[in-house]
Amino acid sequence: RTARFTLDPAFTVGAVNPRLFGSFVEHLGRCVYTGIFEPGHPTADAEGLRQDVLELVRELGVTAVRYPGGNFVSGYKWEDSVGPAEDRPRRLDLAWRSTETNRFGLSEYIAFLKKIGPRAEPMMAVNLGTRGVAEALELQEYANHPAGTALSDLRAEHGDKDPFGIRLWCLGNEMDGPWQTGHKTAEEYGRVAAETARAMRQIDPDVELVACGSSSQAMDTFAAWEATVLQETYDLVDHISLHAYYEPLDGDVDSFLASAVDMESFIENVVATCDHVGARLKSKKKINLSFDEWNVWYMAKTHAEVSALDWPEAPRLLEDNYSVMDAVVFGSLLIALLRHADRVTVACLAQLVNVIAPIMTEPGGPAWRQTTFFPFSQASKYGRGEVLEVRVDSPTYETAKYGEADLLHATAVRAEDGSVTVFAVNRSRTETLPLEVALGGLGVREVVEHSALADADPDARNTLAEPERVAPHAVDGTALDGGRLTAALEPLSWNVIRLR
Ligand code: AHR
Repeated sequence: RTARFTLDPAFTVGAVNPRLFGSFVEHLGRCVYTGIFEPGHPTADAEGLRQDVLELVRELGVTAVRYPGGNFVSGYKWEDSVGPAEDRPRRLDLAWRSTETNRFGLSEYIAFLKKIGPRAEPMMAVNLGTRGVAEALELQEYANHPAGTALSDLRAEHGDKDPFGIRLWCLGNEMDGPWQTGHKTAEEYGRVAAETARAMRQIDPDVELVACGSSSQAMDTFAAWEATVLQETYDLVDHISLHAYYEPLDGDVDSFLASAVDMESFIENVVATCDHVGARLKSKKKINLSFDEWNVWYMAKTHAEVSALDWPEAPRLLEDNYSVMDAVVFGSLLIALLRHADRVTVACLAQLVNVIAPIMTEPGGPAWRQTTFFPFSQASKYGRGEVLEVRVDSPTYETAKYGEADLLHATAVRAEDGSVTVFAVNRSRTETLPLEVALGGLGVREVVEHSALADADPDARNTLAEPERVAPHAVDGTALDGGRLTAALEPLSWNVIRLR
């Protein structure tokens, strides 16, 4: 059966915030060390940043880059990470049972962002696990105050005369999780987040603040946590965070393929909770969503991996190697974010290099693109503009976790120049899915390109030995005739159909 939907310029979801294509660099495993930073690597510049990685990061099209964690931030002492590199202390990183050398720190992070280019923006987390209001203020003063105070002058002395201008800040990380160093109840966290937010706004009323929401929709405290935290912080913060990771559990591939069903319901439930608190407070303000960790992550094996560690430096951790099937699910998660662009105004792919990442590196060796690299780079390139309302009429299949799920998952974005890009996933493992889209008043006349990521072997991957095994290919036969687009979506495929 054919899957169908209608696009109409009058029915829009909202404008895509460029921050939807953010990413995340945590001091975890080899994300920083031998990932983005490797002095002595043949491509390293004077600051130790790998140029081969930087080139791929630019191609990926990331915008906001969240830093320095993650669970790592809950033990982070920012002052360890600044000043002459040789004087920086080595510390225990409790989150990942590793040794943190602090060789890469705040100044290097800002230098990295500048080298990505003008689209890259800092998104800095403060430690509300082992620390509190005072240390957050000190970090903000060091980073952002122009000059003439002890900490801003210290920054200049360290070689960074110009302030870093960090506007977007996370108030801690996953404080609802019992695994978090300094884990808190919603009441405890709500109070400290509110006090930190109030104080940070005393330095600069224009900072944008993200309060911690739930670590996943499956947390026992989900929704009650958000309601309690927002009751304390509603007028003081701009965003609430969401985190979600997906993997096939107990071999349940059909549910895994429909992971975006969970992601969309998570988003809608958080929106409902935010608006409920807003209504209770009789507020006109809307809280937006920062989906600041999302990805496919084969998490089941991580706990054993971490607990076996004996405080090494930059161990190989969370180095998932993604298949074509993973990339199709990943693309569907991107579609879910775009479909909610009216309220999801920040999103960070966790993470950027080596750690559950679209880019992999070998120490002293090459860097390459994982399968998930392609949906992200295409969405970042062509998913800019206004998201159009898409309600699919699709054949369905049965899943254990989510009941009946659509085989088609889709969204469409109209750019400023009137061109339209349809992003679509076919979740069927065996069948090609015929697609018809009525394009009515959009004024587009031709198919520029239909690109698909699919493979006869859905388990195909890019590896060090075969780094270019998987890449998107062009699809023939996609047609636009009399305002009707017709296409065939290969089994288990991510599709980008560009129209103008
Ligand atoms: O991204 C990996 C980890 O996942 C982060 O450190 C943490 O915030 C989440 O649980």
